[in-house]
Amino acid sequence: MTATSADDTGSQNSESLVGYYSDMGINSVPWNRQTWSEDYEWLDAGDEWSRWWGDTHAMWLAVVQPRVQAFVPAPTVLEIAPGFGRWTQYLAHLAERLVLVDLAPRCIEHCRERFAGATHLEYHVNDGTSLAMVADDSVDLVFSMDSLVHADATVLERYLEQLATKLTADGVGFFHHSNLAAYARDLERARRRSARTRAALVAKGRLPHPQSFRDPGMSAERFAAACDRVGLACIGQETISWSSGAMMTDAFSLFTRKGSRWDRPNRCFANPTFVDEAARMRSLWSVASFRNEETPDPTR
Ligand SMILES: C[S@@+](CC[C@H](N)C(=O)[O-])C[C@H]1O[C@@H](n2cnc3c(N)ncnc32)[C@H](O)[C@@H]1O
Repeated sequence: MTATSADDTGSQNSESLVGYYSDMGINSVPWNRQTWSEDYEWLDAGDEWSRWWGDTHAMWLAVVQPRVQAFVPAPTVLEIAPGFGRWTQYLAHLAERLVLVDLAPRCIEHCRERFAGATHLEYHVNDGTSLAMVADDSVDLVFSMDSLVHADATVLERYLEQLATKLTADGVGFFHHSNLAAYARDLERARRRSARTRAALVAKGRLPHPQSFRDPGMSAERFAAACDRVGLACIGQETISWSSGAMMTDAFSLFTRKGSRWDRPNRCFANPTFVDEAARMRSLWSVASFRNEETPDPTR
């Protein structure tokens, strides 16, 4: 999901952005349930968030597939927060059994209809943190993309705690989550600026977007520490820019059970050109895909 155009005048009373978000309930479980079950229109089933890459297939090929290719196909895949199934449509071909868990009943209903022909998919609505419906030692790959960036740190930590026992001995996870806490001081600077100055600085990549709905309490570092506390090892972390600017507000983290065949010292990689990769893929796709004739011709 991209940043919205929501704006403020920097006049909130809370001392910190973390405080402001938690006062407003942003990124909390009730906020996510309300947003994705009731408020969001889902006009294009989530494909609207892929357009800056060309389309969803372009984004799968350029973003998701290269980052999970070592772990698929896999016997059992758990997808947390599938929404309307933007990534499920690919994972379904890469798993013998695919378990979907989302807190929004509307999303799970949509997936049930969309994938009605597939008998190896299982569907669960949860409370936003529980994985009680998943057996211990049963998940070879847990996957979550473009969803838990909107979840607060406590939700991610609760999921990790349970995944330490739900993963098989060689199980592995790929999570896309917020890295906004790495910019705590810049965020406070951003909030104090007028809307116009802030927009200019965000556009130049000198300030993070303060209302990108990334969780201001989560970072790659906090994620790795949370893994370590519960018996998981973070084995790869890429911090990335997203569509709202050049700052690395997001992270992709790979994790596994300690002692698994994937276990190794964490490899960290900062990727500030992620947004530029999207622009290049969109141009390439407009010429090469032959899938979506509406993709704009960049030469015109
Ligand atoms: C922006 S949509 C993205 C959906 C899908 N991953 C995609 O990329 O198209 C966010 C999804 O995350 C789900 N979600 C948010 N917080 C969650 C949580 N704590 N547990 C499970 N699902 C959650 C929402 O219900 C919604 O389906």
